[in-house]
Amino acid sequence: MLRERAFAAVYDAMLGPAERVFLAERRAQLVGEASGSVLEIGAGTGLNLEHYRLAEHLVAAEPSEAMRAKLAPKAGTCAVPVEFIAAGADDLPYPDAHFDTVVSTLVLCTVPKLPAALAEVFRVLRPGGELRFLEHVRGVGSLAEWQDRWLPLWKWFGVGCHPNRDTEAAIRAGGFEVEEIEHWDAPGPIGIVRPQIQGVARRPAG
Ligand SMILES: C[S@@+](CC[C@H](N)C(=O)[O-])C[C@H]1O[C@@H](n2cnc3c(N)ncnc32)[C@H](O)[C@@H]1O
Repeated sequence: MLRERAFAAVYDAMLGPAERVFLAERRAQLVGEASGSVLEIGAGTGLNLEHYRLAEHLVAAEPSEAMRAKLAPKAGTCAVPVEFIAAGADDLPYPDAHFDTVVSTLVLCTVPKLPAALAEVFRVLRPGGELRFLEHVRGVGSLAEWQDRWLPLWKWFGVGCHPNRDTEAAIRAGGFEVEEIEHWDAPGPIGIVRPQIQGVARRPAG
């Protein structure tokens, strides 16, 4: 799809200012602690790869061919063994309880069916395993109304991105225990993606 190719082509440049001001540091915090056998869903152009330190093995899954074309050349930036696969979060080619950790950054806004993707993430995580997330989310009051109004245009421009998802509620509804969560406002001019969450949710051990 032309729009998908254009998005992949401009993605790193588009995120550049945010990466420099806050995103790279947040990626490093979140991803640097991902350990054991790790799956990253919607790995995009690979902006997280350089931040892995503790993973024994990383699978970077990405359904878009255009994004994967940007991702694979960044393999050299990753300090842990990495493998790339073509797969969406809603259909992961792994048995139950296969991974210790799943990482999602700016992806749960884009998966077409959020509950289905979270159910699949839950399935492939071992009991007690971690979902480490960094996502922009639904705001409150008039901001949420603006997010709803902008949805069609934003989704078109962002190739499926929803600015108005209550991702924390969806994670909890998916059976995860939210262990750590920070709600914060990203700096910058684009208000509708300002509310963000970062944290760790666990598949219950029992
Ligand atoms: C905004 S980008 C985020 C990329 C990367 N995770 C990051 O932090 O920069 C959203 C990504 O989700 C991917 N995506 C789209 N549908 C998906 C699905 N069903 N499962 C997993 N990822 C998906 C897109 O191809 C894109 O790479």
